[in-house]
Amino acid sequence: MFVRRFILIFLIALIGSMAKAQKQDPTIVNKVNLLLKRMTLEEKIGQLNQYTGKAMTGPATAKKNDLQTEIKNGWVGSMLNVKGAKNTREVQEMAMQSRLKIPLLFSLDVIHGYQTTFPIPLAEAASWDLDAIKLSAHLAAREAAASGIHWTFAPMVDIARDPRWGRIMEGAGEDPYLGSRIAEARVKGFQGEHLGGTDAVMATAKHFAAYGAATAGRDYTGVEMSEHELWQTYLPPFKAAANAGAATFMNSFNTLNGIPATGNSYLLRDILKKQWNYRGFVVSDWNSIGEMVIWGYAQNAKDAALKAITAGSDMDMEGSIYRKNLVALVNEGKVNVALIDDAVKRILYVKYELGLFDDPYKFCDEAREQKVLNDPNNVIAARTVAEKSIVLLKNEQQTLPLTNPKQTIALIGPLVKTKRDMAAAWNVNMDTTAIVSLYDGITGAAKTQKVLYASGGSVQHSSDQEIAEAVAVAAKADVVILTLGESYEMSGESKSRANIELPGDQVKLFNAIQQTGKPVIVVMMGGRPLIFNQIADQASAILYTWWLGTEAGNAIADVVFGKYNPAGKLPVSFPRSMGQIPIFYSQTNTGRPYTNQKAKLYLSSYIDEENTPRYAFGYGLSYTNFSYSDIQLSKNTINAADSITVTFKLTNTGKYAGEEVAQLYLRDDVASMVRPVKELKDFKKVMLQPGESKTISFVINKEKLSFYNQKLVWGAEAGTFQVMIGSASDDIRLKGSFELIDQLTSHNK
Ligand code: NOJ
Repeated sequence: MFVRRFILIFLIALIGSMAKAQKQDPTIVNKVNLLLKRMTLEEKIGQLNQYTGKAMTGPATAKKNDLQTEIKNGWVGSMLNVKGAKNTREVQEMAMQSRLKIPLLFSLDVIHGYQTTFPIPLAEAASWDLDAIKLSAHLAAREAAASGIHWTFAPMVDIARDPRWGRIMEGAGEDPYLGSRIAEARVKGFQGEHLGGTDAVMATAKHFAAYGAATAGRDYTGVEMSEHELWQTYLPPFKAAANAGAATFMNSFNTLNGIPATGNSYLLRDILKKQWNYRGFVVSDWNSIGEMVIWGYAQNAKDAALKAITAGSDMDMEGSIYRKNLVALVNEGKVNVALIDDAVKRILYVKYELGLFDDPYKFCDEAREQKVLNDPNNVIAARTVAEKSIVLLKNEQQTLPLTNPKQTIALIGPLVKTKRDMAAAWNVNMDTTAIVSLYDGITGAAKTQKVLYASGGSVQHSSDQEIAEAVAVAAKADVVILTLGESYEMSGESKSRANIELPGDQVKLFNAIQQTGKPVIVVMMGGRPLIFNQIADQASAILYTWWLGTEAGNAIADVVFGKYNPAGKLPVSFPRSMGQIPIFYSQTNTGRPYTNQKAKLYLSSYIDEENTPRYAFGYGLSYTNFSYSDIQLSKNTINAADSITVTFKLTNTGKYAGEEVAQLYLRDDVASMVRPVKELKDFKKVMLQPGESKTISFVINKEKLSFYNQKLVWGAEAGTFQVMIGSASDDIRLKGSFELIDQLTSHNK
């Protein structure tokens, strides 16, 4: 434990100061300009062209010419889905035979680890631990970079408030503040101190923009959204990623208010490249340029190319649309070559920055690859991050941790022995044999306890006999650990679900086990918030473990046996029923708010359901308890240049050492627009020994009071604000208020 913590602290210190400004190096700019002058139009357009290798991460696209010839002619700027030091070297050698020897960029979806699989991004978000999240991205980058990769298509920074959407697993949940902090941490983790280090890859902020708001939670649908909602909720994590230096952005598949994001000049030119002065480049999503024809926004592929390049999409992923149409469009005078030059310059810049012109094989060192992929520190860190991602939802009568050395434990459920599921979607170089299943983890850790096992069926089906066998095993045990949830292929891209309750016969299995009268600890796995009300009511304890990656079984065992005290908090609200979706804590009030009166008539409520979520944003238990007391505000009024410091005492009142995520929420009482009932504005994760107290402080400044008004001007309005400090969005422990005296506005956030 000590060794693990030490290594973690050491690795965090290593990446502690990593940051990259969106400044350009004049020497590189000069080199880019000189090279550009030597390029033919076809070579320039080649730089905007990205093809996949053999692996497919999207539907089949139009047939292309012979790949080798294309590369050797300098007509390809980047490849995706080619990995490994040896393979990337072989393909780079082809590019080195081209006239100008411009190196290729190798890109890959390194979403939650490369070979060592880390928890899914939504799970990591539940850690509220920015150092751990940064470390996970850094180690994923280090492994990928050792394996020939220059560029990851991560982080996904889409805010998601609809658990039907399968890609909710890839992001940081529902909240723009938490999402922005995590976006920064991930970008800095992937990119390191500066690009060009052999332990860093370029990051991609994706999917720009509003992809997480897919209508009805169905992947790839269009999005209709007010400008205010776009700016206030969906854009902040993108802005944070750009500020943190994200080298690239990726288009989203959706339309935004009728215009496909890939052809949306408001998003790409006006906001990203002008207003935010973004210097990186924008890659389309998989044939999203071509899909503009299917949407009915472009007449044909040529029209799609015109619309995408005009809007500001710089690179065409796997569509061949730029490659086949841009030369003609320039020659016909429909596309100004200056547009092409701008896109090419952005791409060449990063190739210089990565050092590929000095050494195109810089990332293709097989000896280094072996060393880095086999570094034991990767697995150590994966276990630590996995522990931090677990959320304890329920723990009646301290069922957990299991401390009785003589207990017999029954491990039951369809996900006890599976390894592949632990790695979830987006696993690019997974080694299934290295994955620790729950079975491996618990049996490995149970020194003196006896462990029994029954599968109880599969995720989708349990026969009567399988249930009977599971009941017989449960009957022989003192306590049951029951795994329930989804299988890995039920979440991720294109894995939307209309029904997010437990699939198959899992509730039946739970009921049968519950009837044995044994305490049942449910380990719930999945890529999204699931609905399981009856189990939430009846189980003795519930751990929500998402998909935790390579070290899943060990991390869960650490929590089960009390080696690690869980501290995760939900980054997204868990609904009670599907009719509540979208459900999120930062809703606005209504003119007829429902506040638990018996009669619901003429109040904003459901006649057949509660308004509240089953588990709220920010919720998560610990084996210990924390008390909040002694709130103090440094002043009761502030003006423009001022800030207020809120302090309070946090005490560990229980028996275990543990961490608490103290959360600061604010409410703007009256404003020119109706403001949310509360908004997260800061948080601190604090470790406390039993009986220990610490004074915690939050600084409230202009930034935390500001919002986008109706005219999309960022600023704070004079008036009173409520301060809420809590352990969850629905568990506010301390309150205060103050008044902002001035009106504070700024146009350029
Ligand atoms: C489509 C996905 O939407 C995107 O996130 C991913 O990076 C690309 N395919 C490439 O695999």
